Amino acid sequence: MAQTILVTGGTGYIGSHTVVELQNAGFEVIIVDDLSNSGIDVLDNIEKITGKKPQFEQFNLADTQKTDDFFNKNQNIDAIIHFAASKAVGESVQIPLHYYRNNLVSLINILDCQLKYEIPNIVFSSSCTVYGQPDVLPVTEQTPRKDAESPYGNTKRVNEDILRDSIAAYPQLKGIALRYFNPIGAHPSALIGELPLGVPQNLVPFITQSAAGLRGELKVFGNDYDTTDGSAVRDYINVVDLAKAHVVAIERLLKEKNKANYEVFNLGTGEGLSVLQVVKGFEKATGIKLNYKIVDRRAGDVEKIWADTTYANDELGWKAEKGLEETLLSAWNWEKRVREIE
Ligand code: WQD
Repeated sequence: MAQTILVTGGTGYIGSHTVVELQNAGFEVIIVDDLSNSGIDVLDNIEKITGKKPQFEQFNLADTQKTDDFFNKNQNIDAIIHFAASKAVGESVQIPLHYYRNNLVSLINILDCQLKYEIPNIVFSSSCTVYGQPDVLPVTEQTPRKDAESPYGNTKRVNEDILRDSIAAYPQLKGIALRYFNPIGAHPSALIGELPLGVPQNLVPFITQSAAGLRGELKVFGNDYDTTDGSAVRDYINVVDLAKAHVVAIERLLKEKNKANYEVFNLGTGEGLSVLQVVKGFEKATGIKLNYKIVDRRAGDVEKIWADTTYANDELGWKAEKGLEETLLSAWNWEKRVREIE
């Protein structure tokens, strides 16, 4: 009998790619999503990729009654991967109360239901944003977390604490927090990918929309940083590699291979790349010349961050495999399919 994984936020960017990898690994999947930042057509595209359409329920997990009703009706869940959250850094500064309510209450409701319906295992979607601007690079899981640059980043940090403290109080719970660096790219089928609402805040979707003629020139936010070419440095990880790490984490919990009831892993490539290196990588991968302009730094940006992936590589037995150009080409192929560009 296949084990069943609840994926909250499963019609979103990283969630949908993780559902595909879970189904490929033989798991049954239930998606809960409020569709506030994704479309229901993702379900059909997942089915086109894997041949299986996941069970889908639409509601917001910050709704305590609806969440309890869901778990009461679905008592076959073996583990949870919790992606569902509001995630726009800039927006979180404008409407912090929405971010704190949505992101914190959702996790609290899930943990309450895990205790009530005896679901021990949870993988939580966290972010390298909890490190702020590290004093020492690369970042390990022991690098001290810093005050977040935004309410969004703070919800990730506080949610880690909620998870850690709940697991410490209730030994029947086991959890893994996965700290993503910068997820980019799309599934090789180009059937699922990143489709931000409105003007993309993140670098790669802006690049692909600019290349598709939907946006003007790319604005590079600063070239006066202390980096090789002055532009800011990040650790860009292929979204399929990231999705596969979630399957490894879930199997770690289900097979009780975890070394502690609460574990944290950095998920990156271990390589820092500058904005201008990403631009050049896109041009090389696609043959498209990108128009861009250097402008002022963006408030809240850190200068440089990339992961030390030793712990995830050794302990999880997982390593990011796909390179920058392959990943950027997958993002471009996705953009072309969405915009029906040949
Ligand atoms: C990357 C680099 C920008 C757009 C954020 C969140 C993180 C995660 C990913 C949710 C930076 C530069 C960007 C543009 C640019 N979010 N840039 N022009 O800020 O590293 O991380 O998104 O999980 O938690 O903090 O990602 O893609 O926005 O920026 O020059 O039009 O690209 O300044 O140096 P970021 P990003």
